[in-house]
Amino acid sequence: MKLRVVLTFTLLSGLLLAAMRTDAAGARPAVQPKAAALSDESAACLGCHRERAAPAVAQQWATSRHAKNGVGCYECHRADATDPDAIEHEGFVISLLVTPADCEPCHERETAEFEASHHAKAGEILGSLDNVLGEVVEGPPAANSGCKQCHGGTVRVLADGRLDAATWPNTGIGRMNPDGSKGTCSACHGRHTFSASIARQPENCGKCHLGPDHPQYEIYTESKHGITFRAKIAEMNLDRPTWVPGRDYNAAPTCATCHMGATRTQPGTHDVGTRISWTLRPDVSVKLENGEKRRAEMQGVCSSCHGREWVTDFYTQYDAAVGLYNEKFATPAKSVMKRLHDAGKLTATPFDEKLEWTYYELWHHQGRRARMGAAMMGPDYTQWHGFYEVAKLFYTEFLPEAEALLPGVTADLRGMPDHAWLKGISPDDRAKIEQYYQQRYGK
Ligand code: HEC
Ligand code: HEC
Ligand code: HEC
Ligand code: HEC
Ligand code: HEC
Ligand code: HEC
Ligand code: HEC
Ligand code: HEC
Repeated sequence: MKLRVVLTFTLLSGLLLAAMRTDAAGARPAVQPKAAALSDESAACLGCHRERAAPAVAQQWATSRHAKNGVGCYECHRADATDPDAIEHEGFVISLLVTPADCEPCHERETAEFEASHHAKAGEILGSLDNVLGEVVEGPPAANSGCKQCHGGTVRVLADGRLDAATWPNTGIGRMNPDGSKGTCSACHGRHTFSASIARQPENCGKCHLGPDHPQYEIYTESKHGITFRAKIAEMNLDRPTWVPGRDYNAAPTCATCHMGATRTQPGTHDVGTRISWTLRPDVSVKLENGEKRRAEMQGVCSSCHGREWVTDFYTQYDAAVGLYNEKFATPAKSVMKRLHDAGKLTATPFDEKLEWTYYELWHHQGRRARMGAAMMGPDYTQWHGFYEVAKLFYTEFLPEAEALLPGVTADLRGMPDHAWLKGISPDDRAKIEQYYQQRYGK
């Protein structure tokens, strides 16, 4: 049975009153009393949409802080007739796209930080190897429904102001908008609640940060942090207006805590890269400019919940793992690839030889997993999905394939102390291993 409960508090707008009825008997009003007035335009949008067009949008909006503060449909969707994507709609000039430029007048700081981040540049992937893979080796529809839904594509407008279906919908984080702005805030702030609480959840980042080449979501889920978050989600106070560890919550950090959140001593940021000291994406990892400052900011977050040495010692282990990957596997493999190119044993075309796939997976998949697992406390990603796979690929595929193309090309590498084990282990060590299994399993 549907019972409409009309709320009893005083309201500034009759239309808003109707918007805030709740459908389920006894349900609490979604919007608190004393909502700010809506503009006449937004009241008109709402009056029609609530009943006739995508009513769920109006309902979600009604639960938002925007509704409470009188920020209505028109404040976000309005457009100038001269905007490329402006359309005539029921007597109003609006735009379906709502870009960071539209949020900016009210959220200047967040927009400036976001626009300065790698996130806003994520659509600029045309020059990459991955792009050759997506657009050429695979094919454009794969890139449209795959790459660009995470990275963002260029949204094109048709002559009549409508959006080109080949490029839309798209909520990739670095979307290139017709007004020249970059990205979309709705990549993290789901429409139309635009709540901070969804953005604070690890699943939100996990739309993009997962899979074989950057499994941060899986690593987090495996970590003590992820376990504790799940177990104590009811104590995380995800809905609070401010969200400071050691004040608003204490149980566990999420992605947003470490990479974006404010602490008692430092402000939050919408530039997710500011607290990272290594970049773990390229074939060989490099320390970023101002690495020590960035690291100190991240450690400031850890310090809300941990003692100083716990944190600095963790970083010692992390640096050692990145160093191992760089020095033992990545740098030597990169130099072998260069020598093969120089000797004309590999063509300039990427991905036309088996070895190029092997090398790509070595750094882009397995090598990233090993490094990222170590960065975020995921031991299984560091080891079995990471270094184990790196070593297996390196010794059983990369080296033999390179030797087959140019005999002797791996000789000096094999001479390195790191790879001395290839010469074999002593009979003594072998006997110890046998003894171990004998004792453990009795056979
Ligand atoms: C008299 C009814 C009415 C009014 C007033 C109205 N709309 Fe709509 N709107 C609709 C209907 C119906 C649709 C769905 C049309 C369709 O896409 O089939 C729609 C669609 C939309 C869309 C989606 C367009 C698309 O191409 O998918 C947006 C955005 C929108 N309206 C915003 C607004 C805003 C903002 C206002 C106020 C400035 C407004 N509407 C006023 C009825 C209305
Ligand atoms: C805080 C800004 C904001 C407010 C307020 C807002 N919208 Fe939107 N709306 C957006 C964004 C962002 C998108 C996604 C468009 C994009 O990707 O650029 C969107 C998309 C839409 C769409 C198309 C998406 C779909 O799922 O079909 C409709 C319809 C729409 N809005 C209607 C409304 C209506 C009706 C209201 C008022 C009840 C409203 N919006 C209020 C920001 C807003
Ligand atoms: C599931 C979402 C997703 C898909 C699909 C995806 N990527 Fe990515 N990509 C990411 C994320 C997230 C990162 C950043 C990883 C990190 O920093 O750990 C990234 C990193 C990259 C980078 C490195 C950027 C840099 O600054 O070093 C390139 C280039 C790239 N992707 C291109 C592509 C291309 C081309 C495709 C399609 C063939 C693609 N990606 C598919 C999410 C995605
Ligand atoms: C990568 C995901 C992400 C993107 C993209 C993003 N936000 Fe946020 N936003 C968050 C998170 C997480 C919070 C909550 C931060 C906290 O309280 O710890 C937040 C909070 C906010 C807040 C509340 C006040 C504050 O700063 O904490 C505003 C306003 C806001 N975002 C606006 C924007 C705007 C505008 C854009 C686009 C220019 C945007 N956001 C893009 C994740 C994102
Ligand atoms: C006309 C001004 C205006 C526009 C345009 C606007 N906002 Fe807001 N936004 C506000 C106000 C006011 C608040 C409430 C601030 C508060 O509660 O302190 C708010 C709050 C928020 C919050 C915090 C919500 C929470 O749960 O704490 C987010 C996130 C946000 N806005 C994102 C956006 C995004 C993304 C856009 C563009 C798509 C946008 N806003 C457009 C005025 C605006
Ligand atoms: C819609 C997809 C998407 C979502 C959602 C998303 N990201 Fe990203 N993120 C990316 C892509 C793509 C890149 C790589 C950008 C590049 O370098 O081109 C990236 C890069 C990053 C980086 C590296 C930044 C740098 O400067 O090197 C961090 C850290 C990051 N994201 C954290 C987060 C967090 C935390 C969240 C959730 C609050 C989140 N991301 C949500 C797609 C996404
Ligand atoms: C406990 C804090 C913490 C949590 C929780 C956390 N991270 Fe990280 N993250 C780190 C640290 C530390 C690094 C490495 C920083 C450095 O190199 O100095 C890192 C590195 C990264 C990078 C950089 C990879 C690159 O390409 O350089 C990305 C992207 C990232 N994290 C995304 C995420 C996402 C998405 C989540 C949630 C699923 C998450 N992180 C959860 C602390 C955290
Ligand atoms: C909001 C609080 C909070 C923040 C912030 C936080 N942690 Fe933790 N951390 C925890 C909790 C809770 C545990 C799990 C304790 C347990 O179950 O024994 C934990 C566990 C750990 C562990 C042990 C992992 C294991 O497998 O036993 C390490 C290492 C760690 N944190 C490092 C860090 C680093 C480094 C940072 C900053 C980049 C950080 N933490 C940020 C709360 C936090």
